[in-house]
Amino acid sequence: MPLPPSSRQLLDIAVEVAREAAATAHRMRVDGVSTVATKSTDTDVVTAADRAVERQVVDALRRLRPTDAVLGEEYGAGDTPTAGPGGVRWIIDPIDGTVNYLYGLPYCAVSLAAEVDGEVVAGVVRNVVTGDEWTATAGGGAYRAGARLHCSTQTDLGQALVATGFGYDPARRSHQARVVAELIPHVRDIRRMGAASLDMCLAAEGRLDAYFEKGLAPWDIAAGGLIAAEAGLRVTGLRGLPPGPDLLLAAPPALFEPLHDRLADLDASGGP
Ligand code: IPD
Repeated sequence: MPLPPSSRQLLDIAVEVAREAAATAHRMRVDGVSTVATKSTDTDVVTAADRAVERQVVDALRRLRPTDAVLGEEYGAGDTPTAGPGGVRWIIDPIDGTVNYLYGLPYCAVSLAAEVDGEVVAGVVRNVVTGDEWTATAGGGAYRAGARLHCSTQTDLGQALVATGFGYDPARRSHQARVVAELIPHVRDIRRMGAASLDMCLAAEGRLDAYFEKGLAPWDIAAGGLIAAEAGLRVTGLRGLPPGPDLLLAAPPALFEPLHDRLADLDASGGP
């Protein structure tokens, strides 16, 4: 029976595959982008690149690790195997920040993570336009360009730059906007840049102090969540829950409690 792969081996594969995927996304962007479909709402778009990049990633993973399971934003599990005990599952967001990609804004990324027994153990996020790349392995730290990353040391919520995002559903967006309206007087400022994975990577570097969002999917969270956690942020849901669709909060230890409590008071995980 072969030994299970180490987190490092999985990360090496993730990086190789994500780099090729980001090159494809970049090339397709240069050639011109159009939407090919919408998903949950009229503004939740899918481009030809989202689909082509996910296919490319799945094909590459099948070549390199034929028995692994896969979960992707556009095609789900496809016809890949189910991960058994000790098995690996890859979680793919082919283009996180699709609306930025559509508009040519340089804040969109390929996000690829490897999970073993339901725990994310390796992840990479690569900005499709700038080529910036963040990586992490569970217990092995988070890195960009060879430098180990550490989250913000900010201790005062009033001085914190906090990023968030909005879902595509209008009723959900209204609730999220109300939460932000109540939060903004209590923080330095709010950023909504449009790619959850990159927001978590910037928080991992302390270029944002914290990040929260309701309604994220596993592919939005997997790689960026590991990178943030490995840089020292607490990555959780509200009231002791794990991060998930109800809420993901990534905050440095000193900001965690005040931000968590304010978000709980504002019912940030509630609404539609
Ligand atoms: C979206 C982005 C955005 C976040 C949304 C996500 P997509 O992912 O990460 O920042 O606010 O909740 O759905 O649709 O561009 O892959």
